[in-house]
Amino acid sequence: MARLRRGDLPPRLAGATPGPRSRRLSRTLARFEAPGINTLPPGSGPTLVWEEALGANVLDVDGNRYVDLTGGFGVAALGHRPPAVVAAVRRQAGLLVHGLGDVHAHPLRARLAARLARLAPVDEAQVYFAISGADAVEIALKSALLATGRRRLVAFTPAYHGLTLGALSVTARDVFRKPFAHRLAPDVEHLPHGCPPATLAARLAAGPPVAAVVVEPIVGREGILVPPAGWLAAVAAACREHGALLVADEILTAFGRTGARFAVDHDRVRPDLLCCGKALAGGLPLAAVVGRREVLAAWDRGGEALHTATFVAHPLACAAALAALPRLTSSRLLARVGRLGAAVAARLAGWPERFPAVAAVRGKGLLWGIELRDGATAELAVAAARDRGVLWLAGGPEGRVAQIIPPLTIAARQLAAALDRLEEALAAAGPSPA
Ligand SMILES: Cc1ncc(COP(=O)(O)O)c(C=O)c1O
Repeated sequence: MARLRRGDLPPRLAGATPGPRSRRLSRTLARFEAPGINTLPPGSGPTLVWEEALGANVLDVDGNRYVDLTGGFGVAALGHRPPAVVAAVRRQAGLLVHGLGDVHAHPLRARLAARLARLAPVDEAQVYFAISGADAVEIALKSALLATGRRRLVAFTPAYHGLTLGALSVTARDVFRKPFAHRLAPDVEHLPHGCPPATLAARLAAGPPVAAVVVEPIVGREGILVPPAGWLAAVAAACREHGALLVADEILTAFGRTGARFAVDHDRVRPDLLCCGKALAGGLPLAAVVGRREVLAAWDRGGEALHTATFVAHPLACAAALAALPRLTSSRLLARVGRLGAAVAARLAGWPERFPAVAAVRGKGLLWGIELRDGATAELAVAAARDRGVLWLAGGPEGRVAQIIPPLTIAARQLAAALDRLEEALAAAGPSPA
């Protein structure tokens, strides 16, 4: 029985976080779910177990109510359980829950492909549906390799593009790569994100030709890094000059997160291939590559689909995306992100001065990173925030960058209340001011 009646409320704790039911369920998970996949690394304590979520609120199984500044990894851009999405999924569940992937289609899939192709900043666009962000990155990389006949790829560090073997080849962090180093694509070179465009151009000019340059327009999970204005446009120009395709990984940034419909819009860049996911289907698993027709034509080889999946273009996810997109792409939502983002920027600007725990803050729109002094401080700050009813996560090198990625629809008062709690958490994470 649903207990959250609205999603715009401040935190309210009923007891410990995690409480007794969360602890009990954590023990069951630790016993029956493989280690590593969930939130229970060996030696760590119990996790929070979510029962319900609505808007920007999450309710755990012990009745603690949180404000979600993780936005469910950026998925809940319209908040959790957006009514239009829930209604569309219910409707579709009464008609067709599962189709026949790459063999037979369904009407919503055609409508969604047309809609995505029209709205993405890609010339002569077509769509290749994917199951997850990493799957979309696989498709983009394979598209580039097929279309150019080249083998080399350039990516940046830091970067997170997913953890399947292909996507992992362009993901930068060693902790993910090392155990599989011998299986990763050998022809990938990483350059510093935001490096001088001339460095990239020189790399593209030297050695065997490069199939694609893969870039997060704003680095997300790996530490929220915003490159200088114009950098992405210079990357695009270098790609054009050397015949390399530009792959923009907008799995996190697409659909308003940074204050523009797509993050590439800030630099007026039109990539050859653009990956989107997360927010796309309002909480259902769906991702897509929007690519230039000429590039995606490389898949047309007759016979077997060369990249597909049983659940591709799942009817429930397509229904959810069609319900989410009008709002996700509305100018009203973008204006809202602009207003709230400016308020967040103004408030966070004083944090490095006020809190010795904070080394730097950076971000754009409603995507912010708070770089803490070290990983241990970040862990303390995340736990202290949870104990005050605010969910946020830390990522980046040594887990030092705590991230504010709220629903774009979060109420202004609710966001302000959550930031109050974060300030208390940062003070608690110390050290005390000298
Ligand atoms: C920029 C970016 N690319 C790719 C991915 C991988 O997406 P998924 O976890 O859906 O495979 C993520 C996930 O956080 C991401 O932020």
